[in-house]
Amino acid sequence: MPKMANFMSFITLICILSLSPRPAFAADTPEASSLRTYIVHVERPDGEELVPQSARSSNRMIFSYREVFIGFAARLSPDEVKDMEKKEGFVYARPDEMLSLHTTHSPSFLGLNQNTGFWKESNYGRGVIIGVLDTGIFPQHPSFSDVGMPRPPAKWKGRCERNTITCNNKIIGARYFVQSDDQNAGHGTHCAGTAAGNFVRGANIFGLANGTAAGIAPYAHLAIYKVCDVTCPTSSILAGIDAAVADGVDVLSISLSSAGNNFAQDLTAVGAFGAMEKGVFVSCSAGNRGPFSYTLSNPAPWVLTVGASTTDRKTRATAVLGDSQLFHGVSAFQPNNFPTTMLPLLYAGTLNPSDPMARFCSRSSLNSMDLRGKIVLCDIGGVTAVEKGQAIRSAGGAAMILVNDESYANTILADPHVLPATHVSHADGLRIKAYINSARAPVATIRFSGTLLGDNRAPVVAAFSSRGPNSLSPGILKPDILGPGVDILGPWNIALENNPNTNFRFNMVSGTSMACPHLSGVAALLKSAHPNWSPAAIKSAIMTTADVVNHAGGAIQDERFLPAGIFATGSGHVNPSRANDPGLVYDIQPQDYIPYLCGLNYTNSQVSSIVGRRVNCLEESHIPEAQLNYPSFALTFAPSSTTQVYTRTVTNVGDPISSYNVEIFPPSGIDVRVFPTTLNFTRVNQQMHYLVTFSRLTSTLNGVVVRGFLRWTSSKHSVRSPIAVILQ
Ligand SMILES: *[C@@H]1O[C@H](CO)[C@@H](O)[C@H](O)[C@H]1NC(C)=O
Ligand SMILES: *[C@@H]1O[C@H](CO)[C@@H](O)[C@H](O)[C@H]1NC(C)=O
Ligand SMILES: *[C@@H]1O[C@H](CO)[C@@H](O)[C@H](O)[C@H]1NC(C)=O
Repeated sequence: MPKMANFMSFITLICILSLSPRPAFAADTPEASSLRTYIVHVERPDGEELVPQSARSSNRMIFSYREVFIGFAARLSPDEVKDMEKKEGFVYARPDEMLSLHTTHSPSFLGLNQNTGFWKESNYGRGVIIGVLDTGIFPQHPSFSDVGMPRPPAKWKGRCERNTITCNNKIIGARYFVQSDDQNAGHGTHCAGTAAGNFVRGANIFGLANGTAAGIAPYAHLAIYKVCDVTCPTSSILAGIDAAVADGVDVLSISLSSAGNNFAQDLTAVGAFGAMEKGVFVSCSAGNRGPFSYTLSNPAPWVLTVGASTTDRKTRATAVLGDSQLFHGVSAFQPNNFPTTMLPLLYAGTLNPSDPMARFCSRSSLNSMDLRGKIVLCDIGGVTAVEKGQAIRSAGGAAMILVNDESYANTILADPHVLPATHVSHADGLRIKAYINSARAPVATIRFSGTLLGDNRAPVVAAFSSRGPNSLSPGILKPDILGPGVDILGPWNIALENNPNTNFRFNMVSGTSMACPHLSGVAALLKSAHPNWSPAAIKSAIMTTADVVNHAGGAIQDERFLPAGIFATGSGHVNPSRANDPGLVYDIQPQDYIPYLCGLNYTNSQVSSIVGRRVNCLEESHIPEAQLNYPSFALTFAPSSTTQVYTRTVTNVGDPISSYNVEIFPPSGIDVRVFPTTLNFTRVNQQMHYLVTFSRLTSTLNGVVVRGFLRWTSSKHSVRSPIAVILQ
């Protein structure tokens, strides 16, 4: 069986993109300067009549929303909005916002091997449609060949809108919600290929990581919704979700940031709710603002929130110092003609004491320097790693050593550099700086070792992966899951410097943007194997079967190589084959979210705008967040609070006759009791309930996070729910 040495997974380094004004779609009217795009929520589909006739007739209507949200986007003046607010049927108008992108080895790393096991059983995702909301796609890439692909399912209503893309049986839809074309579609191409790229032999970057590339669901169909160019207007994201649901996608992959102080303001969450209600599974990136707390994007309980971790593949580049110290780093560009002779080494931070930016090796800092023949040490930050290399090369420099700051610690990334380079950890960077400070004439070189597999420390949570707690809903543990998001090889359409192979491009990128489509692919495999599972059931299967140990059998670590916190890992690292046979699932029906949202004390209009119909919370029950039938627990105990009681309902999706016993690993300072302690099932889809009581013990623990888990085990299955507790 071929060893799948490379896979496409897509990582996004957090693409930090500046906000730019959105080009107007429509001809401007005389009062154009006062116009802004508003997303207007109305009660009835005919609500566009609320807009003055002058606006409707002057091309100021941008989108109509029908499937997941009733309303429209239009260019309006503040006076026009004020007039509308008085009319019947108006719910709210929100100015458009610009969100950012969360910028081939992963299938085998995830235990997916060709011609055997779950990959084969799930038919590699055959028959399932993954909608990708992103920057578009480069359709000519061999990853999007339809060799071996069936025709689209009969339910499919989508299409390829522009003549730049011809649909085939792989890409079955391509629709546009921003004006620009697909020239800058690297991010979207990578994400689509990670989720569902077809098998491509001999995929590599500069010869590295060479092997057969494939997406996680290589025979799933792709439907592309271009909602971003440089940034992603919320009005376009909502329009993309609306169209995807109407077209008939099964899974939505959204590697974009979210915004809002509550779920009603977060239009990605609002759109995702409508999608979930129609049975569409929504996978979202957790964000690239780690390792700091409370930095999550996309934390709604009806989406899967995906954090990023490493795989066991490294493309090693070793810094060799004049005193023979070696420091292993990584690079995706490894020229084989780089001389082994030692070159003068200097730290950019010492080049110009009056320029605090010099240490970041920005072009403006280096453009007057003569760095001919030198190896330059730069700190991460300020500009991208590749841009630093470009600045050094322009100043005549020979090579670059990139060092992490303290927060990024050991998270090093293999970027497609334009010159010989390596990226080393913070600790190694300190040692190299100490050598530069102490040596009379510091020298160094870089030695390239190519692709190495088998890092037992993997998966390690990436420094950039956003962390909980969940600020919008502290009673829901987020992120939900980790997936591969570091040094992911995937298809790319933008020319890389130094890459001789222009028609057949792959790029290595990192970010939760890359982790999200891995999970979209896993969801597609599960949907193919279990067509009747709800989005919540698929999510539960993924979460309760996740791996909590690394390949060496120890706890999953974070960027510091310390055991990762529960707000970094969520339920753990995805294990697709185990997710295919979870035994029990925690299911949630769309209407179960109403008592949850009312329990968050949202106003009637907030709840109504999320669920897409009029809700009066006075007539609904209210539940605490942690009472939602979620597969994990997140609790906060105020100093005075003593006991919290929740119920859970589990559905048997394993053998008809099966018996489960509970095992409890309580967090420190918390007593956990479950009743009953045995669940005996006699049929498939049978539901049983249990009660779980958490009590704070009189203890000295204050102001800490403690963790534990409870697990239902049968002779065949283990159904694990992590428990995160904040002790105030
Ligand atoms: C990649 O591997 C294939 C065989 O799987 C081989 O034919 C090809 O030459 C390799 N390419 C590089 C650049 O190593
Ligand atoms: C909602 O309001 C109730 C009553 O004031 C309060 O007890 C509860 O803690 C609030 N819930 C949240 C999530 O803020
Ligand atoms: C569940 O089944 C086990 C063995 O099959 C049996 O020992 C136990 O008494 C049963 N428990 C309940 C609550 O029915």
